[in-house]
Amino acid sequence: MKTDLRSDTFTKPTLEMLEAMFKAEVGDDVFGEDPSINKLEAMGAAMFGMETAMFCPSGTMTNQIAIKVHTSPGDEVICDDLSHVYIYEGGGIAFNSGAQVRPLKGNRGRITAQQVAEYINPDDLHKARTRLVSLENTANRGGGSCYNFNDIIQIKELCLQHGLGLHLDGARLFNALVATGETPKQYGEIFDSISICLSKGLGTPVGSLLLGKNDFIKEARRVRKKFGGGMRQAGYLAAAGIYALENNIERLAQDHMHAKQVADALSQKSFVKAIVPVETNILIFEMAEPFTAQVMIDALKQHDILCLPISKTSIRMVFHLDVLPYMVANMISVISNLELA
Ligand SMILES: Cc1ncc(COP(=O)(O)O)c(C=O)c1O
Repeated sequence: MKTDLRSDTFTKPTLEMLEAMFKAEVGDDVFGEDPSINKLEAMGAAMFGMETAMFCPSGTMTNQIAIKVHTSPGDEVICDDLSHVYIYEGGGIAFNSGAQVRPLKGNRGRITAQQVAEYINPDDLHKARTRLVSLENTANRGGGSCYNFNDIIQIKELCLQHGLGLHLDGARLFNALVATGETPKQYGEIFDSISICLSKGLGTPVGSLLLGKNDFIKEARRVRKKFGGGMRQAGYLAAAGIYALENNIERLAQDHMHAKQVADALSQKSFVKAIVPVETNILIFEMAEPFTAQVMIDALKQHDILCLPISKTSIRMVFHLDVLPYMVANMISVISNLELA
């Protein structure tokens, strides 16, 4: 029995999802003729009340395409310094868009309007032109933290005043929606572009959607082609996305509960120094000296429980649909009995 908490990207499609994929109607999507992709894109756009959507192979691609469409070379993008777009996309903002980043020190991956206001450059030829604000919800490196929606509204007002685009890396937006009770339409009204991942907690093997206005997505399709992301009979993958949107959203609450249960077990152990408050499906904790993250990871591995270090002393566990209640019960018992030397 392997319990793989390294990421929610490790999920494998269920039999029901595979059946939906097997039965998919397909066509050439570069010609706009894949009925399953067209259906998924329409479904995503309708859910968020946005004009249209585009299916891509990955969340990195939807983020990078959005940034490319929002900016020109030499422009500046404001985001939290823990943002995926900044630290985990291979320098893609510089490589793909020739833009630079103004990283802000936020609170567990979340920034405020006051911070953004401070860093919007004046119209001065010495300065890069501030063009885009990019938020992440939930924030991965913030331990699955959720934005307060009022903070997003305030950032939006600022963007409108200064003519800035507002992009959301919503790789795990559905986790935030399930945790807070907010709706996709609230987000669709505010953001100029939203990236959502289908291949994390929603459990598909591949795929992300980029949502936005018709003109924006028309340009995004040109960029996707240039990035080599135009796919042909990818409706088999879109069918998994349709299945996930219809069946796998509400169940994310179970992952959140599992993360809290394991956090409770860890809080009883003297070798755990601190636990980042659990809001969704990500659990980050820090080991007490002299124990390193690797010592704990190796000890859990002996019990077939896999997780990742995010620093010398911190560990991340991500809960998802392949982590079943009996695995969580087993983990709690392993942690309760664990002694580190
Ligand atoms: C917050 C966030 N954004 C974007 C991505 C990128 O998604 P992908 O792995 O599909 O490129 C990830 C992946 O883990 C992520 O955690």
